[in-house]
Amino acid sequence: MSTPVFSVRPTTTPVAANVRNEILGNPGFGQYFTDHMTHVRWTQASDWHAAEVRPYGALTVDPASPVLHYAQEIFEGLKAYRHADGSVWGFRPERNAARFRQSARRLALPELSDELFIESIRSLVQQDHVWVPTPQDDSEECSLYIRPFMIANGRFLGVKPAAEVDYYVIASPAASYFKGAGKPVSIWLSSHYNRAAPGGTGAAKCGGNYAASLVAQQEASEQGCEQVAFLDAAENKWVEELGGMNLFFVYRDGRLVTPALTGTILEGVTRDSVLTLARDIGLAPEERAISIDEWREGINSGEITEVFACGTAAVITTIGALVTENDTIGDPEQANGEVAQQLRKALLDLQYGRAEDKHGWLMKLA
Ligand code: COI
Repeated sequence: MSTPVFSVRPTTTPVAANVRNEILGNPGFGQYFTDHMTHVRWTQASDWHAAEVRPYGALTVDPASPVLHYAQEIFEGLKAYRHADGSVWGFRPERNAARFRQSARRLALPELSDELFIESIRSLVQQDHVWVPTPQDDSEECSLYIRPFMIANGRFLGVKPAAEVDYYVIASPAASYFKGAGKPVSIWLSSHYNRAAPGGTGAAKCGGNYAASLVAQQEASEQGCEQVAFLDAAENKWVEELGGMNLFFVYRDGRLVTPALTGTILEGVTRDSVLTLARDIGLAPEERAISIDEWREGINSGEITEVFACGTAAVITTIGALVTENDTIGDPEQANGEVAQQLRKALLDLQYGRAEDKHGWLMKLA
């Protein structure tokens, strides 16, 4: 397939350089957006067409569009990193492209080719490259967070797959996802809610999964926790994932365990990268079922020495404690997160071009 071409309609009102620089100095997460967005339209009759980079701004969505009523929507999350020579690189964007196609299939949305997905990102990053933050030192994890998403548009209230679809990419300069970058976080174990069930949409990255996690996330905040952990829906016994991140357990004997992909867990790109990087540093990764009892007993006996969460937004974050209705497993004051820190450094060094890209994971964007 030939490389898709995006026409560019530049904004006439870009954010002033001094304002942008102030934002880039302290971007937070998901609060500020770049000057442009990309858009590609799909109709049954014309397939994907009208690819363009245009000024960032409000969308035109019909009040009767399926996305508003039936949540026919999918999204992705990936980052662009500025290297010391000023160039900008993506990290395994082809994995996000593949997952986006899988999510599209599950939500009965049209698939976007990997070429179109990658070019939609490249076109936006090239147009808005001045928005990619430059890290001041090796510990800083600032980047451009890129959010591709696809919505069912049109005017029709019947429950059936949409005949009109829009795909967009927006981008947001980002620092660390959790406040107090690198500090261990506390997690709330949801006992009333599940995130996903067999046959459901757990393995797809669709808005509905995140909407369903919010009430549990609210409980977590009320308990003073940063995130919520979910168990499986069938037995309420097996650890699945957090509201938007995968989980890893470090064992004293060098095993690194993460819940296996059963169809109810999101196949994280960071998760997959951690499995490979773990092997590189001599750990023995295992993808298998892990029960909440194993978590509790492992921490109490010292068999499990660390627990961490990982994701594009969160990178790798140590979990200090799991708070449940009956007890608290672990102690944030005691959590050292040595292995998590080692993996985090290995991942960030690679993403920022400070370490050799042995696995061929980087893609130059600008
Ligand atoms: C990501 O890590 O990209 C996520 O999707 C998590 C969350 C910000 C939705």
